[in-house]
Amino acid sequence: MRNQIASSEFRATCCEFLVRSFGAPTELWNLPLVRLTDELLSARIFVWPSGYENTRHEHNHWSVAGVLLHQIQILIFREGADIEPSVQFTGNAGDVGLLKSPCIHQIRNAANHAAVSFHVFETTEEEADAVEGLSDTVWHGDKVDRYRTGLRRRTELATVEMLRELPGNFAVPLLNRMFGLVGNSTKLAVARAVASFSPSIASEQLLELANAVDPKLSDNLAAIASRLKSLG
Ligand SMILES: [Fe+2]
Repeated sequence: MRNQIASSEFRATCCEFLVRSFGAPTELWNLPLVRLTDELLSARIFVWPSGYENTRHEHNHWSVAGVLLHQIQILIFREGADIEPSVQFTGNAGDVGLLKSPCIHQIRNAANHAAVSFHVFETTEEEADAVEGLSDTVWHGDKVDRYRTGLRRRTELATVEMLRELPGNFAVPLLNRMFGLVGNSTKLAVARAVASFSPSIASEQLLELANAVDPKLSDNLAAIASRLKSLG
């Protein structure tokens, strides 16, 4: 999995999975489960909010996690009631770690930007059939959680960031596709990312955006589009 997490192909596949999900209307959208060919494994991409930590929990089976964007901390607790973690790891982009059950843990993103990780969970047939696909999780403490707050926009912007780090042949087609599926504020972030690969495509995107926004913004966007066009 370490090789996968580091490879542009795998990261592009994750981005493509996320971009495809943006085809769903915002009010119906949810970060979907990743379908794997092995039914006794389940996978999810998590987009962690800044300054966030989830409730302490454990899984009944092993899980493997790899960091796709920025950094997360994994806090391990000896007992559910422990206030202080007994061990703490930092996972940077590209790092992969295994959690063997039983292991009470918590994931934290202390930074002021979202972090993204890819998780594979061992599962059972009953759990694979469960709606959430994650019924092996046992929570320690109240699950008061703001994870879902702003999840779509956070995922959109994190996807743009991940795409920006990929080679242009992976990034540009996906950014282009994404431009057609997201709202105006994310379109701007998409065009900015595209500009580093292809100023001419970014120029076309900004012109399209200029036609869709307030006239006050429209002139500025059109001016930037014109400058980008001259860069070719
Ligand atoms: Fe977990």
